Amino acid sequence: MNSIESLKWRYATKKFDQAKNIEKKQLDVLAQAFNLTATSYGLQPCRLVVVIDQDIKDKMVAHSYGQLQVKDASAVLVLCTTAVNESYIKDYFSLVKKQRNTPDEILKPFEDFLTDTFSKKELDEVEAWARNQAYLILGNLLTVCAQEQIDSCPMEGFVPEKIDELLGLSEVGLKSTLLLPVGHRATDDMMSQLKKVRRPQQEMVSYI
Ligand SMILES: Cc1cc2nc3c(=O)[nH]c(=O)nc-3n(C[C@H](O)[C@H](O)[C@H](O)COP(=O)(O)O)c2cc1C
Repeated sequence: MNSIESLKWRYATKKFDQAKNIEKKQLDVLAQAFNLTATSYGLQPCRLVVVIDQDIKDKMVAHSYGQLQVKDASAVLVLCTTAVNESYIKDYFSLVKKQRNTPDEILKPFEDFLTDTFSKKELDEVEAWARNQAYLILGNLLTVCAQEQIDSCPMEGFVPEKIDELLGLSEVGLKSTLLLPVGHRATDDMMSQLKKVRRPQQEMVSYI
């Protein structure tokens, strides 16, 4: 399939085939796609938690407004944000130094700039910025899922605090932002038969 055919094949899957799991190597492709997604300043303020445990997936339904995708999917990818503070930024520059061997005199001004920029932001602003990065990752994962013929359903319909509690995310400094159940569509998922609803392209895109 070419890119457009893949994107047309993809739809927000409402009913997954519980009997069809996706392979470990496909989950690994998604984990790599997660980590390869571009982020603002390269700071990667997100983490991925992959839920494959059936008991936990079952419990997620109650915190997802009863949406059954989370229990029927082969795995639920939980896109989380992490706190970004001075030590996090310092850690990032140590990594750049280690992986690229960039000299301190080149890195230091950029590190100082970022530390200063983030120190002037309110916590809410930093958290909203981190959530933006999670949405970018979601978009990337949706496309990669489509290319890999993995069905998925992007979800913001859940109660983050409850999911955080269930998965013990607060203890490790994470906040759930988005869910992405992945697996294979059930043959009787009526959503798979529906025509895509999109505004006419001429209305949406202009060239100047
Ligand atoms: C950020 C985001 C959050 C969404 N949340 C939900 C959700 O909680 N439950 C659901 O069934 N679909 C959810 N959707 C799916 C959209 O309703 C769906 O993508 C849209 O109607 C377009 O249909 P399509 O993806 O099948 O082309 C979400 C989509 C996005 C991008």
